[in-house]
Amino acid sequence: MYHISVLLNESVEWLQVNTGGIFADATFGGGGHSALILEYLKGSGHLYAFDQDADALNNTGPFSSAPNFTIIHANFREIRRMLRAEGVRPGTVSGILADLGVSSHQLDSAERGFSYRFDAALDMRMDVREGETAADILNSRSVQKLQRIFSELGEVRNSKTLAEAVVRHREAQPFKTTGELTALCDKHFMGDRMRYLSQVFQALRMEVNDELGALKSMLEGAYDMLAPGGRLAVITFHSLEDRMVKNFLKSGNVSGEPVKDFYGNIERPWEVLTKKPVEPGGEELKRNARARSSRLRVAVKR
Ligand SMILES: C[S@@+](CC[C@H](N)C(=O)[O-])C[C@H]1O[C@@H](n2cnc3c(N)ncnc32)[C@H](O)[C@@H]1O
Repeated sequence: MYHISVLLNESVEWLQVNTGGIFADATFGGGGHSALILEYLKGSGHLYAFDQDADALNNTGPFSSAPNFTIIHANFREIRRMLRAEGVRPGTVSGILADLGVSSHQLDSAERGFSYRFDAALDMRMDVREGETAADILNSRSVQKLQRIFSELGEVRNSKTLAEAVVRHREAQPFKTTGELTALCDKHFMGDRMRYLSQVFQALRMEVNDELGALKSMLEGAYDMLAPGGRLAVITFHSLEDRMVKNFLKSGNVSGEPVKDFYGNIERPWEVLTKKPVEPGGEELKRNARARSSRLRVAVKR
């Protein structure tokens, strides 16, 4: 199984897929959300799906030949440019869905280096065509920068201790493998070991893939591409991502600063449909532990 989709029915129902509409799935992954959107489209309209991981593109399966489906190998931070390149005009898209983070397939592919469960090259790039690996980052950043990565992205309690230990380790021997990082964490972890390792690996993964930067660009691009009345649905797995989405839907920017128009009225570019984020129910949590921290927010472009 490539990936078990999280909040599948909830998110696609909130999108209100209308036949004939143009839709985008910013995070194709195992294609679960895309498949349901295509089902609702009943052969009409068009679905553009994005993934920056080549593995996802090799997994388009049964609907790869559907005439109303296009898969795009790109970072969703480019959503505006890539959709325009496909001939989609800004202001014409009916709905955009993003289901952030990594897929189970990525976590379970030992050689990708996303998981502390396997000893492999310390890579963690979702797009292996470019960019720095997790090892590059551990081997080059200052103590302060590493500390910030561990504390802000991973909420690691002893982030300074760990950052200093990383620098001491690499002075003796540069990092190459997940096993080396895990062994270092084993010397310094606080609290639950698995939780600590998850936090450290998550922080590095988010830094390697500039996940917060990509999210910001995607949200801005999505706003431009949606038609008035079009819907944006975003599933997050991290409190910083959720805050960015919440702010963006409230005020049109990820910092949440109110923006006033010429007359001094606060601008509200979105009508937020989910006053509180939608979270998975007990049934879903029983079936899929990975759904645990997921939160869905949906809004309509005014
Ligand atoms: C949680 S999975 C999506 C699962 C999918 N919704 C499903 O039902 O199978 C996230 C996917 O998004 C991709 N991804 C994450 N960040 C991305 C980005 N910035 N640009 C493009 N794809 C991205 C990952 O490679 C991964 O395949």
